[in-house]
Amino acid sequence: MKKVAVNPFKFGDPVQGDYYLPRPELYGSIKQFLENRIHVVLMGPRRFGKTSFVLHLLNSLEKEGYTCLLVDIFNITSHRDFLHQLLRAIRMKEGFKNKFKTWCKKISTLVPKVTADLDSASGSSSFGLTLGKLAEEDVKTTIQDLLEGLSSLGKKVIVALDEFQKISEIDDQGWLEATLRTHFQHLKNVSFLFTGSRKNLISEMLNNPARPLYRSCQTIEFPAFGPEFTDWVVQRFKTVGVECVKKAVEHLRKLVQDTPNYVQMVCFHLVAQGRSKVDRKDVEEVLETVVRQNAYACQTLLNSLTLAQQRVLRLAANEKQSLFQKEHLVKYEITSAPSLSSSIKALKAKGLLDEEGAGRGAVLFDDPLFAYWLRMCFIP
Ligand SMILES: Nc1ncnc2c1ncn2[C@@H]1O[C@H](COP(=O)(O)OP(=O)(O)OP(=O)(O)O)[C@@H](O)[C@H]1O
Ligand SMILES: [Mg+2]
Repeated sequence: MKKVAVNPFKFGDPVQGDYYLPRPELYGSIKQFLENRIHVVLMGPRRFGKTSFVLHLLNSLEKEGYTCLLVDIFNITSHRDFLHQLLRAIRMKEGFKNKFKTWCKKISTLVPKVTADLDSASGSSSFGLTLGKLAEEDVKTTIQDLLEGLSSLGKKVIVALDEFQKISEIDDQGWLEATLRTHFQHLKNVSFLFTGSRKNLISEMLNNPARPLYRSCQTIEFPAFGPEFTDWVVQRFKTVGVECVKKAVEHLRKLVQDTPNYVQMVCFHLVAQGRSKVDRKDVEEVLETVVRQNAYACQTLLNSLTLAQQRVLRLAANEKQSLFQKEHLVKYEITSAPSLSSSIKALKAKGLLDEEGAGRGAVLFDDPLFAYWLRMCFIP
């Protein structure tokens, strides 16, 4: 039987091992902060590799004697969800499974109740139901107890919260933020690492003196890769005998706003199609196919917007800068500059455009493939 070569590219989920290109500088600086108990907020665009980076960092720190915990709060809507994710992260921890019960007994009266129910019911699908019996006040107490208990997970503990800005979206008058703040100060052997993609929300949390987390963390911008990423991609192609010119990768990186996820995705398809050579044209071709396959989702998204917003998106996708120029407004049928700015504001609030602009009179798309699709459909 013919042996199928393993595709050297992966996309979608966090990557590790050979699929992961290390970021030594970022790694070094964040490690230093955490070692000195300075809590860190790592902010970066979506699909840039934040979770992969955090996994890599935590794995290495575990080897150096830290006890690390990764809590994913991307989909939380309530305190109960938060509690659920926190418990889950602790339970899932390798090497901690046996100790979990004793640890729970130690830290509070409520947590053992929750976990005993959990064991008698079969597995984690009933998890939500079990927690559902808890009144909001009990949920809060349990969260506090669990946070308190973090310090007894190990000698030196690091807790990472992925998609941190969700905390600010829970409508609780800042209770969770304030609770975290209290534990920041309390837990002398625990450092926190947060990641997030909604810059404005996070800046507001950290820079507004009225908010509990005011200046409590060091913020770090998640950087785009330098030229080493291009070399790495070329090298990965080589492992399966595909010859890819550097220019093609550089071009691809530009087309997808330097998003590693999409770089790997396009490269994955190029390999899967069995090409032996890759140049700029091949990259464009595959990107176009991928975008077309995704057209339904783009169309649905577009249909959910007002007509004014749709026009503004066309403008933003096609014109790199000076969006407010008179000619542009005319060309894209936008009634006035104030109407343009209010549409931009609405599109940012929906998370379709990035909150940070790309310079004066320009905007960045949250999803570069959506911009690509718009350009394909609406040639001005
Ligand atoms: N260090 C890296 N080296 C190579 N590829 C990477 C790296 N980091 C991320 N990627 C690519 O990006 C994809 C997404 O990575 P990851 O899930 O870590 O990003 P994220 O920023 O957490 O995304 P999201 O915003 O969806 O949470 C990976 O599947 C991989 O293709
Ligand atoms: Mg992630």
